[in-house]
Amino acid sequence: MPDTLTITDNRTGKQYDLPIMYGTYPTYGAAIRAADLRQIKASDDDFGLLSYDPGFTNTASCKSAITFIDGEQGILRYRGYPIQELGIKSNYLEVAYLILYGELPTHAQLDEWTWQIIHHSMVHENIKKFMDGFLYDAHPMGLLVSTVAALSTFYPESKSITDPETRRTQFYRLIAKMPTIAAFAYRHSIGMPYVYPDDDLNYAGNFLNMMFKMTEVKYKPDPVLERAMDIMFILHADHEQNCSATVMRGAGSSHPDPYVSVAAAAAGLYGPLHGGANEQVLRMLRDIGGKDRIPDYIKRVKTGEFRLMGFGHRVYKSYDPRAKILKDMIGQILEVTGKNPLLDIALELERIALNDEYFIERKLYPNVDFYSGIIYQAMGFPVNMFPVLFAIARASGWLAQWQEMLEDPEQKIARPRQIYTGADQREYVGIEKRK
Ligand code: CMC
Repeated sequence: MPDTLTITDNRTGKQYDLPIMYGTYPTYGAAIRAADLRQIKASDDDFGLLSYDPGFTNTASCKSAITFIDGEQGILRYRGYPIQELGIKSNYLEVAYLILYGELPTHAQLDEWTWQIIHHSMVHENIKKFMDGFLYDAHPMGLLVSTVAALSTFYPESKSITDPETRRTQFYRLIAKMPTIAAFAYRHSIGMPYVYPDDDLNYAGNFLNMMFKMTEVKYKPDPVLERAMDIMFILHADHEQNCSATVMRGAGSSHPDPYVSVAAAAAGLYGPLHGGANEQVLRMLRDIGGKDRIPDYIKRVKTGEFRLMGFGHRVYKSYDPRAKILKDMIGQILEVTGKNPLLDIALELERIALNDEYFIERKLYPNVDFYSGIIYQAMGFPVNMFPVLFAIARASGWLAQWQEMLEDPEQKIARPRQIYTGADQREYVGIEKRK
């Protein structure tokens, strides 16, 4: 006998038994099917009961085997592997493979995967011309979103989304070309010549090369910064059904090619409440300017004047495990790059907030964006590149979510319902009679 939920409709007195479905364990997610509510009707011509959930705060839009988060306990796992372990032992391309294919690759699989991605990192020369058309001060995220969408026109075969081999080729291309496009967007914004990919370097090192190479013949990334970059990519690779993953699945559910869906997902990421938050954190820390001004700033947050950026999370109601890893990494990075005065402000801000009743009551803790901005800034990235860095890493997660959606026979085109609250039918009024 499956577990059920009994509902009594007090309008009719009727009772309904709805089956309850579970994730891997009941504590990993339990739900009723929203469609089962439709049988609950007040009268025969009633459409049936809907569930109302703005912002999908309590709606499971899919079954997923990719990422597990326990927000109360601060747990994050990709395909069952804790983020802390992957951050120490793995590298981004291995993690991308894991996320996309469900298992850690063998030696041969990883070699092939890495070779393919490294050898798909060049972009068509017309992409450069396309990017040249943007104003010099265009936000690099706008460039990234537009240019990734434009890739769709270069690879028309990518529309064969049901063919796993074709999909795999697009995985190579997207994961490989995102850093190239991102670096070109940055070079464009500072009027520097584009730097082509260097096949001798690893994924993170090559990205730093395309970003920062000046007149030297060969760019040699600092090993600490190269590894830090790679860890940042690992930490941002996936985060289950967040705003941008939901956009990826939603846009992808009408079956366009993956380039336009990734562009849509990146647009979802762009906003200050999602991937744009670390940019806002740095602006906030600069605005605060000194430790003595923190109490006043917190007071203003508590009156609702603005939010403390980099704090709070829809899912984490304890310390975001990614923020913890970043906090632990900062010292090593600053040893290479030099001291960052914003770190002192951030540490003090965190200390005060975590001891304040307002934040304790609402379970508001630092999220990944609280420290990532300080690290990126120390590494030499301008703030407007922060969401771009997030998008590079998240490409693998978006593609994994998209592939899982395509292979799930229960998934359909995304098409939510609404509760209509507008005017009832009325007669058209000619303009001369309108008041
Ligand atoms: N500063 C001050 N108060 C906050 C904050 C904050 N950062 N976040 C939430 N609250 C308060 C909010 O005002 C509300 O209070 P009350 O109950 O008195 O009205 C309560 O906490 C619950 O907030 P909510 O808006 O219902 O929570 P949510 O789950 O809808 O929002 C969030 C989650 C991340 C959008 C929000 O915490 C926020 O705006 N944080 C700042 C932006 C940020 O750091 N975003 C990065 C998220 S992590 C990266 C990622 O995964 O994209």
